Amino acid sequence: MHTVNRLAALREAVDTLRGKGPVALVPTMGALHEGHLTLVREARARAASVVVSIFVNPTQFGPNEDLDAYPRQLEADSRLLEGEGVELLWAPPVEEVYPEGFATTISVSGVSEGLCGATRPGHFDGVATVVAKLFNQVRPDLALFGEKDWQQLAVIRRMTRDLDLTRPHVAAIHGVPTVREADGLALSSRNRYLSPDDRQRAAALPRAMREAIARIESGDQVSAVLLALKQALTGSGFASVDYAELADAETLEPLGQLGDSAARLLVAARIGGTRLIDNMAVGARA
Ligand code: PAF
Repeated sequence: MHTVNRLAALREAVDTLRGKGPVALVPTMGALHEGHLTLVREARARAASVVVSIFVNPTQFGPNEDLDAYPRQLEADSRLLEGEGVELLWAPPVEEVYPEGFATTISVSGVSEGLCGATRPGHFDGVATVVAKLFNQVRPDLALFGEKDWQQLAVIRRMTRDLDLTRPHVAAIHGVPTVREADGLALSSRNRYLSPDDRQRAAALPRAMREAIARIESGDQVSAVLLALKQALTGSGFASVDYAELADAETLEPLGQLGDSAARLLVAARIGGTRLIDNMAVGARA
């Protein structure tokens, strides 16, 4: 695997790879786990070459969020990517992404405003801006993102369509299903912050979501089911629930009942100081 941290070297390396066929990009912030490696394997199945970016993007962290504490482990991550046969690692320093005087922000309205956008103002502006930069830097044929961050995926899809980030930049955005532990907890870099007790309790999140989905699909009133879901979480050791919503899978508009479009149940809840998010498909059209 070739590692580059300057844009000129990246462009040269990607040009060489492009000669061998489609190039896939897997954008990450490092601290890689099995969920990221699943994205890499999926990329490998769809493209001739795989480029992974590792960049802890400061603009998507709020003032009270964990930018400094965010795990950085480039050497360990590099070994994992080598093991997956990744061709190229793009690991730029901050000034290569945000040079002196950088003044542009991409803001995707609508889809980025509710859910996590309501409690993390500016977060999706930071995500959209850095992802657009990464697309323009790497110019991949396709890019892969985890469905675990469903709202992020929806924002990136909207931005890609709105800004015509199609060939020769990104032709296709692929969402890859969430990888889960045996007890159902979605893999996340943040799970490492959970104490052993909270880690056990955290399994209540996917369990309560599955129960809620079964009730919604059997016709129970959505508002009552969502209330019961929040109560189940706080009754299982979660300190608070930021949101639990049934939403249109693409626009993320809240839904009061299942309709003709694909629907998604999305939840963010806090346990022992850690904020966990999860989402699952609801109904036959999902
Ligand atoms: O999902 C992530 O790890 C980040 O939000 C992303 C897409 C790499 C942008 O920084």
